[in-house]
Amino acid sequence: MDEYQKLLELNKLWAADMVNKDPDFFTKLVNTQKPQFLWIGCSDSRVPANEITNTQPGEIFVQRNIANLVVNTDLNMLSVLKYAVEVLVVKHIIVTGHYGCGGVRAALTNNNYGLLNKWLSQIKDVYRLHAKELNAITNEQLRLDRLVELNAIEQVNNLAKTSIVQKAWKRNSGLKLHACVYSLQNGVMNHLKTIDSSSPMDKIFRFNFDSEMED
Ligand code: CO
Repeated sequence: MDEYQKLLELNKLWAADMVNKDPDFFTKLVNTQKPQFLWIGCSDSRVPANEITNTQPGEIFVQRNIANLVVNTDLNMLSVLKYAVEVLVVKHIIVTGHYGCGGVRAALTNNNYGLLNKWLSQIKDVYRLHAKELNAITNEQLRLDRLVELNAIEQVNNLAKTSIVQKAWKRNSGLKLHACVYSLQNGVMNHLKTIDSSSPMDKIFRFNFDSEMED
């Protein structure tokens, strides 16, 4: 049996196990999803949203990419964000970085990664923004860890710059944006920062929705 066949077998065992624990498990989920959370995480196979938060299918809407970036030209991310905020009406958006992130590590080098350079350059921008703090950290591992944290925080800032989030705040939705970091070493997620509608933001990024052009 090859790996793929084995995966399908494992799926059947999982489905049977879920029904065994709760005969209505799938029937309850079939018609609706009402997740409270949108998760923006790294594609890294070691940081799966449901497993590390001990949640079940139906609880977290998920968007993952290399190094958990929020890029305002990423149609995939924007579509997920719009659907999560305006249709599912999630209460929380969580950007989860993780120590030992290969994307962040690659961005700190001068290596040529071809097509990936374009994606990683956005992490280099985070580095540039915090160069003073990062350059003061002499230990390479600690500098990398700090860039992982700053990257997660900057992605939350990027969420706050979107009209999708700002319109939700204007509707008094109570939407909260959180940055946190996951440790591959011990499996623990640590909180870094939360932004809500009352958080300070550079005036230049605030939209005046009175002069409206539709999305
Ligand atoms: Co990663």
